[in-house]
Amino acid sequence: MKKHLYINGQWVEGHSYTELSSPYTGEKIAEIAAANEEQVENAIEAAEKASKEMAELASHKRAAILEKAAAKLEERKEEAAQLIAREAAKPIKTARAEVARTIATYKFSAEEAKRIHGETLPLDAQEGGEGRTAYTVREPLGVVGAITPFNFPMNLVAHKVGPAIASGNAVVLKPAGQTPLSSLFLANLFEEAGLPKGALNIVTGSGALVGEKLVTDDRVKKISFTGSPEVGIGIRNKAGLKKVTLELGSNAAVIIDKNVDIDKIISRAVSGAFAFQGQVCISLQRIYVVDEVYEEFVEKFVQETKKLTVGDALDDQTDVSALISPKDVKRALSWIEEAKQNGAEVACGGEAEGNILYPTVLLHAGNELKVSCQEVFAPIVHINKVTSIDEAIDEVNNSKYGLQAGIYTENIHTAFAATKKIHVGGVMINDIPTFRVDHMPYGGVKESGVGREGVKYAIEEMTEQKLIVFNHNY
Ligand code: SIN
Repeated sequence: MKKHLYINGQWVEGHSYTELSSPYTGEKIAEIAAANEEQVENAIEAAEKASKEMAELASHKRAAILEKAAAKLEERKEEAAQLIAREAAKPIKTARAEVARTIATYKFSAEEAKRIHGETLPLDAQEGGEGRTAYTVREPLGVVGAITPFNFPMNLVAHKVGPAIASGNAVVLKPAGQTPLSSLFLANLFEEAGLPKGALNIVTGSGALVGEKLVTDDRVKKISFTGSPEVGIGIRNKAGLKKVTLELGSNAAVIIDKNVDIDKIISRAVSGAFAFQGQVCISLQRIYVVDEVYEEFVEKFVQETKKLTVGDALDDQTDVSALISPKDVKRALSWIEEAKQNGAEVACGGEAEGNILYPTVLLHAGNELKVSCQEVFAPIVHINKVTSIDEAIDEVNNSKYGLQAGIYTENIHTAFAATKKIHVGGVMINDIPTFRVDHMPYGGVKESGVGREGVKYAIEEMTEQKLIVFNHNY
C-alpha cells in the first residue's frame, strides 16, 4: 500500500516511492513516499504559516487537542501496537507498552500546555532597578524540526510532537526510514483531534535531503533529534544559531554491590539488556559486579537469559525478535568475534539465525572492545568482575557516553557517593539504567547529547524566554 507525505493537512504524492519491508520476514509492508526538495520546502512553508495560528491558540485549546489525540490513540491502541511490531520487529508485548507510554506522553503534554509560565523578578535587588516591575513569559519558537529514530517510532515522536504542540509551535517531522508508518498513523489522530492544518507535517524520504533542509533552513527555529552521535554532531555543526536538542547513544552500565539480593533483580536486569533486542539508547550493555557476588550473578543472569523466547515480533510469547537490518546483524556478530579474539568468553548466544541475533552474554570483555566502548544497539551485554565500587564507578565513567547508569546497593553511603561520582544525565539507585517514565528529565552528557526531553523539559527547550520590564517612574 502506498503511503504519501502529509503536508498542510493533505496527503501528497511523493516524488518517488521506496519499498518498506519487515525486518523479521523480509516481506514488503508498504511503499513509502520520498519527498523532493520542493515538497520539504512546502512542508516548512505550511508549518511557518500554521505556527502563527498555533502561537495564538489558547493553552486550553492546545491541551484539548492533545487530550483528544491521546483518547483516539487509546481507542486504536492494538492497531498501533501491531503497526510498531510489524515495521520495527518490536515484540508485540513491548510494542503495546510503547503505545501505553505514547498515550501518557500526549496526556502529560496536554497537562503541561496549561502551565507554561515565567516568573516575576525583584529588579530593585540592584541599585538602579528601583521602581520597576519585571516578569518573564515563555513564547513558542515557531517551527520545530523533529528527526526521530526507529527504536520507539511512536513514543519518541510523541516526545517531540507533544511538547511542540503544547507550547504553540508547528512541526515538520522526519521519521526514521524503517519506521514511518507509526508517524503517518499519528497524522490521522491529530487531524481528527482538530489540530490546525500545517501544524504537523510529516515528510518521509532521504535523511540527506529532508534532514539537511530542516537543519539548514532559517525558518526552522529548532531541531530536536534522536539518533546516532555521528548524525547528531553533524546536525549541531550545521545548525548555526538554531536551538538543538540531541538525544544520542550510550553504552549504559549498572553496578552490582555485595549484599544485594540477586534473585530479586535478575529478571529486571535481563529485560534491561534484551528488551527490543537491545535497540534502546539506555539498554543495559555493561554490568560491573563486585567479586563477592560475581559468580552467583553470572550464573543466574545466564540462566534467565536462556529462558527468553526468540521469534516473530507478532507472537505474544516473543521476547526477542529480529534486529532492524541484516547490516546490524553482521555488525553485531563482528563485534562479538572481536571480543572473542581478545579474551572475552561467550556465556550464551553469540549466534544469529536470519535477522535474529540470539541474546548474548559476554564475560570479561575489556573496555577497549567495541562491545563495551561503542553503543552496541543489539542484544549483547557483558558482565565484568570488579574488586570495589570505586573501580566499578571508574569503569562506568570510562566511556565517551553518559546517558543513564544504575547501581544496586544496600548501602546508603555507597548509593549517595555513586550519585555524586557517576557522570551521566540520570543515576538510578537500585534500578537498571533502562528505567524511564515519560515526564522525567531525560538526556545525557558527553557524546550522549545536549538538552533534555521529558515533556516539561522539552517545552523549556521549545520556547524562548522573554523579559518584560514596566518602568513606574516614566
Ligand atoms: C531511547 O532509546 O532513547 C528511549 C528510551 C525510552 O524512552 O525508554
